[in-house]
This record gives sequence, structure tokens and C-alpha cells, in this order.
Amino acid sequence: MAKNDSLRKLRTRLLAAARRAMNNAYAPFSHFRVGAALLTSKGEIFVGCNVENSSYGMTNCAERTAIFAAVAKSGPALNIRAIAVVNDQDVACSPCGACRQVIYEFGPKATIFFKSAKGWTEAPITKLLPEGFRLQ
Ligand code: THU
Repeated sequence: MAKNDSLRKLRTRLLAAARRAMNNAYAPFSHFRVGAALLTSKGEIFVGCNVENSSYGMTNCAERTAIFAAVAKSGPALNIRAIAVVNDQDVACSPCGACRQVIYEFGPKATIFFKSAKGWTEAPITKLLPEGFRLQ
């Protein structure tokens, strides 16, 4: 299969999984439901949604929920190949700064699929987060 074909298929699969997860979002404060789905280097898919809190700062974004679920299920050797992000308003929404750093931790070569002001976009995490922090 041509490289572009498999990339398109991967994106479609991740977006569908992210949309299903989005329906589980707990977003009574922002009313902005977000879903994320990631593909690991082992070929597994993990999903997450945003989980808000009355103490707003405790809110967890969909991307971090997916990453933490992946670590909880499969262990710390997580390597993220790609992660897709969707929202229920179909507006531009790229991962926030905190999520970029968490994606980088587990996927320094990860590809991010998200909607930008210019439409559906695919970008390496190093473009979204130049000079990401690493302790080791
Ligand atoms: N949110 C995400 O889950 N992911 C993003 O990429 C952007 C923002 C959530 C956090 C909060 O629950 C709501 O969207 C509004 O900021």
C-alpha cells in the first residue's frame, strides 16, 4: 500500500476512535467535548476524553487522559506514533501546551492530527513543541 494511503487510513481510524471517546467527555463547565485517540508503536489504540472539575484547574484534557490510560493499561514503555484530537463543535483545536509536553515525553517522534484554523492538519510534535523538555 502506498505510504499516503496507509497514513490516510490511520488518520480515519484514529479520528473515529477519538469521536467515540468524545461522547464520554465530562464537560459541564465549558460544554466543549474533546476526544483523543493514540496509536502506539505496538499497534494498540488508546482513547481519552476531557474530564472537567468544579475546581477548574483540575481539568484533564482528552489527550492526557488517553496517554495516562495507555500507561495504566500497557505500562511505562509507551511509544506514541500518532495522536488524533476532535471536538464536538468541529472548531480548530490543537493540543494545549501541557499536553504537548506530555505527548513529547512518550512520543518524541509522534504525529499529531488536529483541526487548525486552516482545516485538518498533520504535524510532528517537535513542530508544535520545539525544544521540548526531557530529564533523561
Ligand atoms: N481541551 C482538551 O481536552 N483538549 C484540547 O486540546 C484543548 C482543550 C479541553 C479542556 C477543557 O475541558 C475544555 O477543552 C475547554 O478548554
